[in-house]
Amino acid sequence: MNAFTILLTGYSGAGKTTIAMELQKEFLRRSMPVELLDGDVIRKNLSFDLDFSRESRFSNAKRTGFLSGLLSRNGINVIVSMIAPYSECRDAIRHQVKNYKEVYVKCPIDICEKRDVKGLYQKVRDGRIEHFTGISDPYEVPICPDVVCKTNKETVVVSVAKILKNLGMQTMIRKEIAYPSLFYTDPEAS
Ligand SMILES: Nc1ncnc2c1ncn2[C@@H]1O[C@H](COP(=O)(O)OP(=O)(O)O)[C@@H](O)[C@H]1O
Ligand SMILES: [Mg+2]
Repeated sequence: MNAFTILLTGYSGAGKTTIAMELQKEFLRRSMPVELLDGDVIRKNLSFDLDFSRESRFSNAKRTGFLSGLLSRNGINVIVSMIAPYSECRDAIRHQVKNYKEVYVKCPIDICEKRDVKGLYQKVRDGRIEHFTGISDPYEVPICPDVVCKTNKETVVVSVAKILKNLGMQTMIRKEIAYPSLFYTDPEAS
């Protein structure tokens, strides 16, 4: 089977990058190859020529989908964390990979704004950013996501566990948890 491509979609500040990084660790713990394509990193290195218009967001998603296709067909699991606000953006990724999973990282916009992790919401309110998803640009809610993570109601650990369960990876519990005695070292022993 082709490796997974897992898209985490949602508002800025919803928790996509946070969940993606924890999910990446779970793959690594299981010695499964994984690459994280984070929206900010992709924008800086691959899509630096694009703005935040609908067309550019679509192009950005197409490029990311192409890259995901190359990686996943070679057995590398891909985690994409990007806003992907239009269903056509999500479809552009979906159509270029074989084993697509969509995770809706759901959080009310006012909570995202309160978090304001990168100070972007303040800039929007100051009129310094246009086309900001959820404020001055649309977000089309995913119609049939594989997983919904409600990050204002659940912890990161719970969100990651839900995703792992959907991927069929929940049974692969870390040895340290399943057999703690094997990993216990007696501090008195020399
Ligand atoms: N359940 C949760 N899942 C993910 N992030 C959470 C959760 N609860 C609180 N947060 C916080 O919300 C913020 C999300 O920021 P980030 O992951 O950068 O968002 P995004 O990548 O979606 O823009 C972080 O500060 C994170 O600690
Ligand atoms: Mg992010």
